Amino acid sequence: MGKSINNNYHKKLVIGLFGFGVVGEGLYKALQQTSSLNATIKKVCIKHPGKKRNAPEELFTTDKDVLLNDEEINVIVEVINESEPAFEIVSTALLNGKHVVSASKKMIAEHLPQLLQLQKKTGKSFLCEAAACASIPVIRNLEEYYDNDLLHSLKAIVNGSTNFILTKMFEEDLDFKDALLLAQQLGFAESDPSLDVDGWDAINKWIILLAHAYGIVEYPTNVVFNGIQNIQLSDAVVAKEKHYDIKLVAQAKKLLNGKVAAFVLPQFVKHDEPLSFVKNEYNGVVIESSFADKQFFYGKGAGSFPTASAVLSDIGALRYNYHYEYKKLYHHIVPELATDFYIKAYVSFDDWKFIPKEKFEWIEEWHAEEERKYLIGVIAFSELKINNWWKENNTSLILSPEPIIEDVEIRKLKKKSLELAGV
Ligand code: HSE
Repeated sequence: MGKSINNNYHKKLVIGLFGFGVVGEGLYKALQQTSSLNATIKKVCIKHPGKKRNAPEELFTTDKDVLLNDEEINVIVEVINESEPAFEIVSTALLNGKHVVSASKKMIAEHLPQLLQLQKKTGKSFLCEAAACASIPVIRNLEEYYDNDLLHSLKAIVNGSTNFILTKMFEEDLDFKDALLLAQQLGFAESDPSLDVDGWDAINKWIILLAHAYGIVEYPTNVVFNGIQNIQLSDAVVAKEKHYDIKLVAQAKKLLNGKVAAFVLPQFVKHDEPLSFVKNEYNGVVIESSFADKQFFYGKGAGSFPTASAVLSDIGALRYNYHYEYKKLYHHIVPELATDFYIKAYVSFDDWKFIPKEKFEWIEEWHAEEERKYLIGVIAFSELKINNWWKENNTSLILSPEPIIEDVEIRKLKKKSLELAGV
C-alpha cells in the first residue's frame, strides 16, 4: 500500500511575525533550518526601523496592518514586549481569521478571560507554549496528558532569570547586580528586569499553567506571590547550614477539601528534590498525580533558541489545526482557589517591630541575637494574602520544604499534649 498524504497536514503556513528581538530573531533563524515545516515568514513588524538586523530589509515594516490585513498570512506570531499592544495585535489577528502563536506571558495572564472568549468566538487557535517554561512542553502536556482530575500537585521553577541569579549568587559568589547584568546580557531577563526579580514574570506564567492544569482562571494579583528581591546573603547562610537551596518556586496543590492552594514564593528546597537540580536559566516542573506518582520535566526556560523552539512547535501544531480545549475549565468542575490553610515559613528581618509575632500559630525556632534575625513558624496563608508586612521593610519570607499544613488544629493539640507531658 502506498503512503497517503494528508494535505491538511501539509498545509502551507504563511507567517506574519511581530517582534524581532531575542525570540523573534531566534525563530527566524530556526525556521530557516526547518524546511520540513512548510512555513515561511512573509513580513515582520518591528517598532524601531533604524536598527541593524540580520535579515533582508524588505522583510520589515512598522505598519501592523500590513500583516493583520494580508489575506495570504494565515498565522500571526507575536513575540513583542509590551502587553497592551500585544493584546491588540492578538485580538485583531483572531478576529481577522488568523491563527495566533504568542509568547507574551504578561499579556496572556492579564487578558486570559478575553482570550478565552476570542477563541470561542472565532474558532481560531491561540497557542502559547513558549509563554511558560520556554522549551519545556508543559502546557500541551497539562492539556492532553493530564486530562483528568487526578493531578495532585505541580511544583515548578518557571523563571529562568531569578534561578540564574540565585545560582550565580549562592553557588558562584557573584553579587546580585553582576548576576542580573549577566542574565540581561545573555537575553534571559525581561527588558524591565524587575518583572523577573519581583516575581511578576513567574506569577504570570503560573496563571497560564493554572488554567491548563486545573481550569482556574485568576488575575495575577489575586494569587499570592513574591520574587527574590528581599533574599539576603544571611538567608543563604541559613539555607546552607540546613542543607537546602533557595529557589523561587511556583506551586499548586489539591487540598483534602477539594480546593487548590496556589502561590509563587521563595522556598527552601532539599538537595535530593528534583527542583534542587535545576540551575541557572533552566526551568523544571514536578507533577504529582494519582497513579504515575512523581514526574519531572526539565529544560531551558529562557533564551533565544529554547523559546523559539516552543514557538516552532506551536507553528507545527497548527498544520493539523491543533487548539487548546481548556478541558479542565470547560469539561470538569473547576476547583476553588484555597486560602483556608496554613504555611510553614522562615522569616528573616532587621527588627522584631516589623513582625506581628502574635499572628503565628506557633514558632518553632527563633534567632534574635544577630543583627539579622530570623524565625521559623506556622501562619495562616490568608495572612499573606491580606497583609504585606512579610515583604516590606527588608523582611524576607522563604517557605519550608513542605510548606502546606492542612491539619493545623490537630497539630496544635498534639503539641499541647506533648507540652503537658513535659516533652
Ligand atoms: N525573563 C524570562 C525568564 C524569560 O527569565 O524566565 C523567559 O520567559
